[in-house]
Amino acid sequence: MQAAAPRVKDEILTRFENLSPASNVAISVLSFIDRDDIGAADIALVTSADPVLTARIMRMANSAFYGMGGRVATLNTAISLLGLITVRSIAVSAVVTNVASISPDDWLHAIETAAACSVLSSRYSADSATAFSVGMLHDIGRALLREFDPTGYAAIDEITGTAHSRASQDAMKQAEFERYGTTHSTLGATILRSWNFPEELCAAIATHHDDNAFAKPLDLALQGGDRLSYLSHLYGVRNTHCDEPFDDLLPDGVGADELPQLIEDLQTKSMEIADLFL
Ligand SMILES: [Fe+2]
Ligand SMILES: [Fe+2]
Repeated sequence: MQAAAPRVKDEILTRFENLSPASNVAISVLSFIDRDDIGAADIALVTSADPVLTARIMRMANSAFYGMGGRVATLNTAISLLGLITVRSIAVSAVVTNVASISPDDWLHAIETAAACSVLSSRYSADSATAFSVGMLHDIGRALLREFDPTGYAAIDEITGTAHSRASQDAMKQAEFERYGTTHSTLGATILRSWNFPEELCAAIATHHDDNAFAKPLDLALQGGDRLSYLSHLYGVRNTHCDEPFDDLLPDGVGADELPQLIEDLQTKSMEIADLFL
């Protein structure tokens, strides 16, 4: 293990309370939050494109102050509970204190995984809105490791490369553990637990790269959604052909013949979310 490694993890864990979202999403929220024709669902859709802003709003809704400790599982409910004034305050502080930024690739992967989780949720009897939230937040630990240790994490990205087979994901976990003494899954779950997120959501994030014989509906939706978002890239935009072997990336219970339609659904849903920012 490298000497600087634990310091990165410790720095992240001690600073996460001050994390702020990428300012563009927060500014988008601020630009229309006062419009009469906008409701909590619209605000949730825009806000959910930023995992850190989403986390901050969820954390606030689950805080002891609101008396819901750990029971608010969706962003829509959180925004309705908090009210627009509080949500706006959170967005303002995010813009002002913008200390964390999510790379475009991480942002896109979060959106696509959220869309994929929600597309797959009914198949695993998982709640669609919770599946969307867990997909949006699942790699928050990875985004933080990248930000705090860009050079070190770039070396880990090299190991994972553009392939997303289970073998390359295992190599990524091992490399993260050797360098940081933790993995992005554990780090993300640790942070979200400390913000009083529902345990089912934290547990799904903690295990999203593990083989889990006791997987619950949300675990299956997240693992499936993560894989489906990778498969979407392997397939490309036309959904007709895939040059790489992908059998071990198929979500549980999904047949290869179902992929084109599922990928089309995920891409349509992702575009709906991304379009809000154009
Ligand atoms: Fe991940
Ligand atoms: Fe992921």
